[in-house]
Amino acid sequence: MSKTQRIMSILIKEIKYQDAIPIRKVVMYPLDSDNRNVCLEEDPSGTHFGLFVKESGDNNSEKLVSIVSLFLYKDPLKSNSTVAQFRKFATLQQYQNQGYGSKLLDYMIKHSQENSVDLLWCNARTSALSIYSKFSLQPCDKPYIKNNIEFVRLERKLK
Ligand SMILES: CC(C)(COP(=O)(O)OP(=O)(O)OC[C@H]1O[C@@H](n2cnc3c(N)ncnc32)[C@H](O)[C@@H]1OP(=O)(O)O)[C@@H](O)C(=O)NCCC(=O)NCCS
Repeated sequence: MSKTQRIMSILIKEIKYQDAIPIRKVVMYPLDSDNRNVCLEEDPSGTHFGLFVKESGDNNSEKLVSIVSLFLYKDPLKSNSTVAQFRKFATLQQYQNQGYGSKLLDYMIKHSQENSVDLLWCNARTSALSIYSKFSLQPCDKPYIKNNIEFVRLERKLK
């Protein structure tokens, strides 16, 4: 964002998973030459959210700056319980640390509550733990390494 531009408004809505791919790629896997980690087999069955900003002097066009994907399923051990995993949470680098990711997480959690999700979880990069702790997502296992990145499973009971 140029210094002369101001954020005029913010909008969060569902997006097609295809629209999330460019941000996943540039923010989370900038060094990968293929889309192996970028695309998920489950993408077509997920719900994908995007946060858009409208900037001054931008001809009223909306820019997608933050994304997250949510996958609901029945708990295989308790069939009356609904579980949701969120994945691929990312904000364009030049828009990070401005509260957009938090707004998107808040929206996604409310959507989960409205859809009777009992338990929300994610495999979080430990580098992002601080933001998750503000949403009461707590580590519930030991950290592990995958593709040279440290992760830990986080959970939050919603009911
Ligand atoms: C994790 C990520 C999605 C967070 O998105 P974001 O839009 O930067 O999120 P926020 O701006 O709401 O919060 C980030 C930090 O900025 C702080 N912040 C929020 N608004 C702020 C503001 N106006 N001024 C300064 N700091 C602010 C938050 O308190 C938070 O601090 P913390 O990390 O110490 O908890 C983003 O950093 C990212 O894309 N990282 C790379 C990919 C990644 O690691 N994804 C997570 C995989 S598990």
